[in-house]
Amino acid sequence: MENYETHTHDVLIIGAGGAGLRAAIESSAQGASTGLVCKSLLGKAHTVMAEGGMAAALANVDPKDDWKTHFKDTIYGGKMLNNWKMPFNHANEAPERVRELEHWGAVFDRTPKGKINQRAFGGHTWKRLAHVGDRTGLEMIRTLQDKGIHTGIDVYMECTITHLIKDGDKIAGAFGYWRESGKFVLFKAKSIILATGGVGKAYKVTSNSWEYTGDGQSMAYDIGAELIDMEFIQFHPTGMVWPPSIRGVLVTEAVRGEGGLLRNSEGERFMEKYDPERMELSTRDVVARSIYTEVKEGRGTPHGGAYLYISHKGADYIKKKLPSMYHQFMEFADVDITKDPMEVYPTTHYIMGGIRVDGDTCATTIPGLYAAGEVSGGMHGANRLGGNSLSDLLVFGKRSGEAAAAYANSVSTNLNIQAEQVEAYANEILAPFSSTDGENPYSIHQDLQDVMGDYVGVFRNKENLEKGIAEVDKLKDRAKNMKIEGSRMYNPGWHLCRDLKSMLMVSEAIAKCALQREESRGAHSRVDFEGYDDEKWGKVNSSINLQGDSMNVTTTPLPEMPDELKSLFTEGS
Ligand code: FUM
Repeated sequence: MENYETHTHDVLIIGAGGAGLRAAIESSAQGASTGLVCKSLLGKAHTVMAEGGMAAALANVDPKDDWKTHFKDTIYGGKMLNNWKMPFNHANEAPERVRELEHWGAVFDRTPKGKINQRAFGGHTWKRLAHVGDRTGLEMIRTLQDKGIHTGIDVYMECTITHLIKDGDKIAGAFGYWRESGKFVLFKAKSIILATGGVGKAYKVTSNSWEYTGDGQSMAYDIGAELIDMEFIQFHPTGMVWPPSIRGVLVTEAVRGEGGLLRNSEGERFMEKYDPERMELSTRDVVARSIYTEVKEGRGTPHGGAYLYISHKGADYIKKKLPSMYHQFMEFADVDITKDPMEVYPTTHYIMGGIRVDGDTCATTIPGLYAAGEVSGGMHGANRLGGNSLSDLLVFGKRSGEAAAAYANSVSTNLNIQAEQVEAYANEILAPFSSTDGENPYSIHQDLQDVMGDYVGVFRNKENLEKGIAEVDKLKDRAKNMKIEGSRMYNPGWHLCRDLKSMLMVSEAIAKCALQREESRGAHSRVDFEGYDDEKWGKVNSSINLQGDSMNVTTTPLPEMPDELKSLFTEGS
């Protein structure tokens, strides 16, 4: 086998969005030698697509807010399917994490009294989202990056990790390649934190960019980790619909948080029919389904969406509070949102399911392997509230960094990685170069996106899900023989071959878990099983793992909430 670079760290973090960066800062602060791998350039992360704010019960605008209300909102939003410990830790620690970010230089919008300002978002009882106009995720990444590069982290950019490696049952390292040169690289590490985000690119209409191909979920599954609740995909209610080249680009929920109104082609404020109490600030699952239904029933806009109005707030207010939305619509769609409505339609945004983790340490079921942020499951249950992801990244980024560093400190330094195993991975990755009659990965990807949109989308039923599973199976077969031209130097087609392996695995998991759950709950909507079935499905997570060569799909009991927390959900509390 060719020579390859090797780097050794106590803790290796794969993924450099909010969770990865926060984990790296913490791991390094604990004295662990820390490596941070990004698939893209540092600073480019889906975190920036959480534009409207980070949810934390700071009580700066609504003094009645507290952790208990935030905890309850998150669990109600997740339709009671969350691993309670995660929203508990999240609600308790988010305020401290936000204030810490401010101390590290994040420039939040202020209240007239000079406190961090907070805005309304769907499903949150109080104005809870600390924000920076509509660029909150961007400011968070900028701040963490500034802090991180001064804490002695080694950053490896434009590097795709393809395999996790174990020594016995323990994690021992990770293997991959540099995207620019195509050369291989091996990382030896006593603990690894996966912070690779979601899998939006398995769908055609998505707010996610090219990096989000389910790499972390798929690599963890390959080495035996358990994944939960994969059926719960969040379709953000408002993506752009026009022009076609930017279909799916996010229109932040902050537009509705700042008073935006949804109307159909007949001018009706249609949320009155679906959630008269919360209207546009209902939870995302409800608003997405409402828009979908209006369009399907013939009350859509000329380009097949709903109208979102904000012009009544006045030009100065809009340009101050929603500057990115103003520019985005002006530049991409030639629409002046201070005068005219936006056209919006649901876009694939987030996966609630992911790798099963311990709610305190983020430890997965593999010793030494941790997961934080979107790649993990349990925090958001069946539906995530907007704004909860940025604070999730901070809270569990920190917790995972702490735990992974402590674990690395406790294990022997003599982890063993077999050269033959590395060689086998290298051969697997290079296979598309030797194929003479294989398929083009781009057509497989296109077909996968069609299958997921057509059969595993907003509304689901048995027949479609079964078709979807059969189609994904065929695509997996086709993907066994893919063909690539050219060299290993920056070759996006070759990169896609690897990404497809992950997307196919995650897509299979989404469809199979969706077929298994015979009820509608949160973001998972079965037209053949309407409403909750609490008896059968209210207390179980969907669970998958690799058994032999096949995906074992089953259920596991939801962790039991302690009585003192349960009492928060009884009436009048
Ligand atoms: O709409 C948004 O700004 C997205 C926020 C989020 O996903 O948390």
